Amino acid sequence: MKKNRITELLGIQYPIIQGGMVWCSGWKLASAVSNHGGLGLLGIGSMHPEILEEHILKMQEATNKPWGVNLPLFYPELERVVDLIIKYDVKIVFTSAGSPKKLTARFKEHGITVVHVIANTKFAQKCELAGVDAIVAEGFEAGGHNSPEETTTMALIPIIRQFTDLPLIAAGGIGSGMQMAAALALGAEGVQIGSLFAASEESSAHEAYKQAVVDAKEGATVLTLKELGPTRLIPNQFSEEMDKLRRSGASTEEMRALLGKGRAKQGIFEGNTEEGEIEIGQISSMINKIEPASDIIKRVMEQCDATLERLANLRE
Ligand SMILES: Cc1cc2nc3c(=O)[nH]c(=O)nc-3n(C[C@H](O)[C@H](O)[C@H](O)COP(=O)(O)O)c2cc1C
Repeated sequence: MKKNRITELLGIQYPIIQGGMVWCSGWKLASAVSNHGGLGLLGIGSMHPEILEEHILKMQEATNKPWGVNLPLFYPELERVVDLIIKYDVKIVFTSAGSPKKLTARFKEHGITVVHVIANTKFAQKCELAGVDAIVAEGFEAGGHNSPEETTTMALIPIIRQFTDLPLIAAGGIGSGMQMAAALALGAEGVQIGSLFAASEESSAHEAYKQAVVDAKEGATVLTLKELGPTRLIPNQFSEEMDKLRRSGASTEEMRALLGKGRAKQGIFEGNTEEGEIEIGQISSMINKIEPASDIIKRVMEQCDATLERLANLRE
């Protein structure tokens, strides 16, 4: 595939970004993706600053290719991790779950490339005003925390493309190179993939979580917890209790009390598939084995190239 604005901006071979993912994307996964031509991102959302420091140091040893971090902006110790990002000269930061105004200027002062994750044009405009370098537009199909607006990737990418000329990465529902080619057809210049990598060999998720993903059939995920923070996951005992509580007319406080703390850690990292959150996207039904990140990248790129060729041949 030819170079484009995303591969040039990020200095990568293939326009494939491994989405930052709590409890999945530590240095092992991120370095594997970067070493095989994509962009690996450390998922800061589940790391205390001391742990992040360890992962940055390991990452610096494990790869000499470009890599970055994903920083959800509701992170409680934001100042400490911003200092670490600057101290260790991290070159690329993907921010999410908040306003791009918050940190973009500060990162840019230090020569850091900033990419922000959005799900509507209102935030695309905020990204333009804040001066981000590129945006990720994430649709309804995506695993993990999601937008309450429920716009699918198919609808979202052209809407955002029409609105802004910023370099654009599509996320949500990319489970193959055919879907990647579709995202490129819709106007994206790269894809951010979460679910496929969450179940990869190098993901730090628990084996029981990965197996639950492999076992997931079509339609296995739902977008739930809408009052507290919409999340796509595989329903289980915990999410059913939550639903029951909501149907009984419980208040947000009561639901927050049942949610408690650490459900994502329990489900993804500790493998408690009944009481934790098994966050994963709609394409989980396309995942039928746990494989190395390198195989995922190779397959997606081969399928994408073959699809682009097939489509070119449809022309008279
Ligand atoms: C287990 C899991 C954890 C995630 N954690 C984060 C996160 O910490 N920060 C973030 O911006 N996105 C997070 N995401 C979203 C991914 O980065 C990515 O945008 C999304 O998974 C893409 O859609 P897909 O799952 O259909 O590939 C998470 C997704 C999953 C599946």
